[in-house]
Amino acid sequence: MHVYTIIARFCGLFGVGFFCLTALLTPEARADDAVAKGREIVRQHCTRCHVVPDMNPYGGIGSTPSFAAMKWLDDWERRFEVFYTLPPHPALVNIVGVSEARSDALPVFIAEIELQIEDIDAILAFARTLKTPDQ
Ligand code: HEC
Repeated sequence: MHVYTIIARFCGLFGVGFFCLTALLTPEARADDAVAKGREIVRQHCTRCHVVPDMNPYGGIGSTPSFAAMKWLDDWERRFEVFYTLPPHPALVNIVGVSEARSDALPVFIAEIELQIEDIDAILAFARTLKTPDQ
């Protein structure tokens, strides 16, 4: 019997919805989910300042590196993993349970970006799909 048939039977038998749904998804499907989630987070929060391919070619603010151009840097993945600790992000990004509490003396001056730590993986999954302009 095929492994997915076994999982499907088990799910039908015990009616354990979400866990089974996750188990039935192939790793590729789950990776696609992460990319889609990352794309939405980036569209919602990062395009304010960054130019992102296929999103806002004429947007962003001039002083801010475009996501595609950043991929020319050898350590771009590392930069995406820790971007919330690199200026100017600590002033506006709050990773719930990770970022230090903001001092009352340094209130956030534009709409704060609140993310979960898992969102960083999703952003990275999306960034991996971007090509540098020369590719
Ligand atoms: C308020 C504007 C603003 C927003 C919003 C913003 N960024 Fe940035 N980001 C910047 C600027 C400015 C730099 C360049 C910093 C520098 O040159 O030191 C930067 C740099 C980066 C870098 C490179 C870091 C480094 O120092 O090499 C990464 C990665 C990055 N941003 C990711 C993101 C992600 C992901 C988001 C959305 C969740 C985001 N940024 C939202 C302004 C912003």
